[in-house]
Amino acid sequence: MVRIAVLVSGGGTNLEALLEAEESGRIPSGRIELVVADRPSYALERAARHGREAVLIERKKIGMKLFSSELVDVLRNHGIDMVILAGFLSILPPSVIDQYRDRIINIHPSLIPSFCGKGFYGLKVHEAALERGVKVTGATVHLVNEIPDGGRILIQKAVAVLPGDSPETLQRRVMEEAEWKILPEAAQMIAKEIEDESR
Ligand code: GAR
Repeated sequence: MVRIAVLVSGGGTNLEALLEAEESGRIPSGRIELVVADRPSYALERAARHGREAVLIERKKIGMKLFSSELVDVLRNHGIDMVILAGFLSILPPSVIDQYRDRIINIHPSLIPSFCGKGFYGLKVHEAALERGVKVTGATVHLVNEIPDGGRILIQKAVAVLPGDSPETLQRRVMEEAEWKILPEAAQMIAKEIEDESR
C-alpha cells in the first residue's frame, strides 16, 4: 500500500474528497497516512475527524528554510511514498521535489496552460477567467516539478462558465464538477504506478 501525505493550506474540500474516495475504495493502491498544513486551516479538523494524523508547520512563523527541513523530516519519519498538494499555497521546497520526483501531484483550478503559474491561486484564478471572458474553464491535475504548474498534465476536466457567474459561484462549480472527481482519480493513477514499480 502506497503511503500518501496530503499538503493543505485552506478549507480542505479537496482533502475531504480524497478521504471519502479512499474510504469508499476508490484509491485501492494508497492510504492517506498524514496531512500537513503550512498555516492554521480547517483542513486540519477534517483530517482529525477522519482519524488521520495531522501536523501544522507554520511557514510564516519559522521561515522557508526551517519549514523545508521540518517538512522533509516529517515526510521521511512517516515513510511517505507520494505527496498530494490539495490547495497547498506554499512553493514546495526543491529538496522535497527532488526526493519525490514524479510522485507529487497538484490540483489547479483551471485548464492549464490558461490562468496558471505564479500568482494564480484560489479565487484569483476564477477572477482572471471571468475577466478574460472565457466560456469554458475547468481543473487540471499535474505532476509537480520546479516550474509552478509546469509539470506533466495527468487529467483535465472542462466546466462551463455561466452567465452571471461570480468568482465564488464559478469556483464552487469547478470544485464540484471537476476537482473533487479528478484529484482522487489521479491519486489512484500515480499510487498504482508506484505500487507496480515496487513489485
Ligand atoms: C482549490 O480550488 C484548489 O484547486 C486551489 O485552491 C483551492 C483549495 O480549496 N489550488 C490552487 O489554486 C493551487 N494553485 P480546498 O482547500 O477547499 O481544497
